[in-house]
Amino acid sequence: MSQSRTALVTGATAGIGAAFARHLAKAGYDLTIVARDEARLAETAERLAGEHGVAVKPVTADLVTDDGRAGVQELLRAGQIDLLVNNAGMSLNTPFLRSTTEGEERLLALNVHAVMALTLAALPGMVERRAGAVVNVSSVAGFGAGMPGSTYPASKAWVTNFSESVGLSVRPFGVRVMALCPGYVRTEFHDRAGINTSGTPDWLWLDADAVVADGMADLRKGKYVSVPTWKYKLAAFGLKHLPRPLIQRVARDTRGRIGRNDPQV
Ligand SMILES: NC(=O)c1ccc[n+]([C@@H]2O[C@H](COP(=O)([O-])OP(=O)(O)OC[C@H]3O[C@@H](n4cnc5c(N)ncnc54)[C@H](OP(=O)(O)O)[C@@H]3O)[C@@H](O)[C@H]2O)c1
Repeated sequence: MSQSRTALVTGATAGIGAAFARHLAKAGYDLTIVARDEARLAETAERLAGEHGVAVKPVTADLVTDDGRAGVQELLRAGQIDLLVNNAGMSLNTPFLRSTTEGEERLLALNVHAVMALTLAALPGMVERRAGAVVNVSSVAGFGAGMPGSTYPASKAWVTNFSESVGLSVRPFGVRVMALCPGYVRTEFHDRAGINTSGTPDWLWLDADAVVADGMADLRKGKYVSVPTWKYKLAAFGLKHLPRPLIQRVARDTRGRIGRNDPQV
């Protein structure tokens, strides 16, 4: 009897994480889905199980907290998870000079610390079984200082670099780790952070389901870093290879959406 595949997706109730959960349920994965809002998790689990006939276990956890991360780490160590998707992430709408240590630590706890801790909980079992994969949802923003005064791109630079580095170390054991680096995706992300995106042109926005489909195709191809769509591949190439002073000038001129017109940042 063939055993069903299992995946754990963090932040699976909205945006890119919800798209991952839909994609994987459709592909027949039994799921563990993680988020903070218990009612929304239960509703998401019921809907996915009903629509796709897979088992879906909702796990309420705040991955900013030690307890929240520890609970999910324990599940990853105990269970045979074939695919871990570290998707939950956040931004702040506070220029660094006006930020607080507490706010920045929350961002780092979710965007960096949780990704490290859950990856480390999942990988030993995968390496032992000589199979499995981790997808860490990063961002094209991580390729450069494109949002002056924001620490978000730095957190995503860490995720991309970390994923590539750890991916190289586990590939000989048949295990994959990949960073998925989308550009703007229509989700709840910007609203949650209070970031005004009214000036962001329509053509820059990506669809979460398409981002996930592209990312999963790149994972199958064995990529370490996936950048969905040609326009963001071009942006990533530019951020990586254009002369630094040119990128810095463009970033300074546009000032991102954070801190624009604020003389303090
Ligand atoms: N949207 C974009 O333009 C964009 C672009 C590039 C990269 N990304 C990255 O994509 C990832 C997903 O973003 P998204 O746009 O899909 O965001 P989203 O629509 O805001 O969804 C966030 C999900 O994460 C969960 N979550 C938030 N904080 C959490 C916490 N402390 N502990 C556990 N779960 C938490 C939320 O549920 P609860 O509130 O119930 O916890 C929700 O399910 C992030 O890592 C983000 O940095 C987004």
